[in-house]
Amino acid sequence: MSQTIQFTLPSYLPEGHVVPIEVAGKSLALAKVKDKFHVFENFCPHAGCSFSGSGGIYNGVLVCDCHGAEFNLETGTVLQGPAMEPIAVFATKLNENSLEIILP
Ligand code: FES
Repeated sequence: MSQTIQFTLPSYLPEGHVVPIEVAGKSLALAKVKDKFHVFENFCPHAGCSFSGSGGIYNGVLVCDCHGAEFNLETGTVLQGPAMEPIAVFATKLNENSLEIILP
């Protein structure tokens, strides 16, 4: 059964930056790209680097700076290795000052 969480957005989130967030006891990551918010797991499946510490969004693609893996922000699929496994991405809906995050 899915769970909807109301998350208060930070007052300032630079476009393309990845910041760590804690949601329902889970360590996730938040990024804004072209005014759309994306929430996804914060740890790269290749070797566990955090996207918030060693990653960023480049041309709309999530890149792990540790070894260069790339992920589709909408689906979590791997666009470029060395990562082999996708990341979990979570549906969101923007309200006035908060973000609804739907956890599975
Ligand atoms: S830990 Fe992310 S590419 Fe290696």
